Amino acid sequence: MAADRPEADRFEQWDVVSSVGLTALVVAAGRAVDTHRPDGLISDPYAEAFVAAANPPHPLPVRPTEPKNDSEDETWQMMSGYMGTRTRFFDEYFAAAGARGIRQVVVLAAGLDTRAQRLDWPAGTVVYEVDQNLMIEFKDQVLDAQGAVPRCERRTVRADLRDDWPAALEAAGFDRTAPTAWLTEGLLPYLPPEAQDALMKAIDERSAPGSEWAIEDFTNIGQQMSDPAFERIATTMGVEMADLIYTDERPDAAAWLRERGWTTDTQVAIEVAKSYGRDLDTLTQRLNGQSSLVTSQKG
Ligand SMILES: C[S@@+](CC[C@H](N)C(=O)[O-])C[C@H]1O[C@@H](n2cnc3c(N)ncnc32)[C@H](O)[C@@H]1O
Repeated sequence: MAADRPEADRFEQWDVVSSVGLTALVVAAGRAVDTHRPDGLISDPYAEAFVAAANPPHPLPVRPTEPKNDSEDETWQMMSGYMGTRTRFFDEYFAAAGARGIRQVVVLAAGLDTRAQRLDWPAGTVVYEVDQNLMIEFKDQVLDAQGAVPRCERRTVRADLRDDWPAALEAAGFDRTAPTAWLTEGLLPYLPPEAQDALMKAIDERSAPGSEWAIEDFTNIGQQMSDPAFERIATTMGVEMADLIYTDERPDAAAWLRERGWTTDTQVAIEVAKSYGRDLDTLTQRLNGQSSLVTSQKG
């Protein structure tokens, strides 16, 4: 890196239709589908507007379709079936954290997450959303056009999570003495192992007693990546997943936390879906169904 290169240029930047930015749009499309399913687990009134505004290189369906056993239908069943499950799970995590008195929330790699606008936050809650600059810019434009109003104090933090994002978070007002509810959803495999390690340490160091942390841990990501269906899904989405995902060995997130005095609870996505009355289809069970949804508390 040239010594005079601006900090912001140290890492690749992306927008909502390129690189890992596009994965945020894919997740939003999955949430739009789930919102319109008769048996939907969530309601995200803004998800469809993001997809419409982004005009992605490959069309992303935002409505449920009848399963026809072709690859595209399988893809969207998978996306919505799993996305609805994980979104609902983390929605409930925040509701419980709020009920336990937590008023500071940090969503890392927030992408097109609209919980600040969707959820019923207790008075006085501050929600920080960290993501790359262009992602936040796009999201704010769409939400403004939709007349979306946060139901909390929402503060956006434009930073790269491989860089000194804690400084940017603190500059935005984050209080490390207050208990915090953290969320890392749809993030860890996009970070190289050393960046994940630094991120986890940074969160631990900034977690006052009583803090909580929910993690989507893709325990079988290597296996997923080698599944032929995965490649087909990536093609449908227009995302080169193999270029974005780091499959290197990394610590089990829950075990890492327990070593540092956190108590953890790990649930497998298939079982979480069942608890919501949803049987994930066979393809989803094989891929995302094995993901761990971890919640944890610091004593
Ligand atoms: C799969 S999306 C998940 C978004 C959101 N958490 C959700 O579940 O809807 C991945 C997100 O991670 C963000 N991301 C990945 N690597 C990042 C990095 N190094 N710095 C900042 N954001 C990053 C992307 O911009 C994108 O919004």
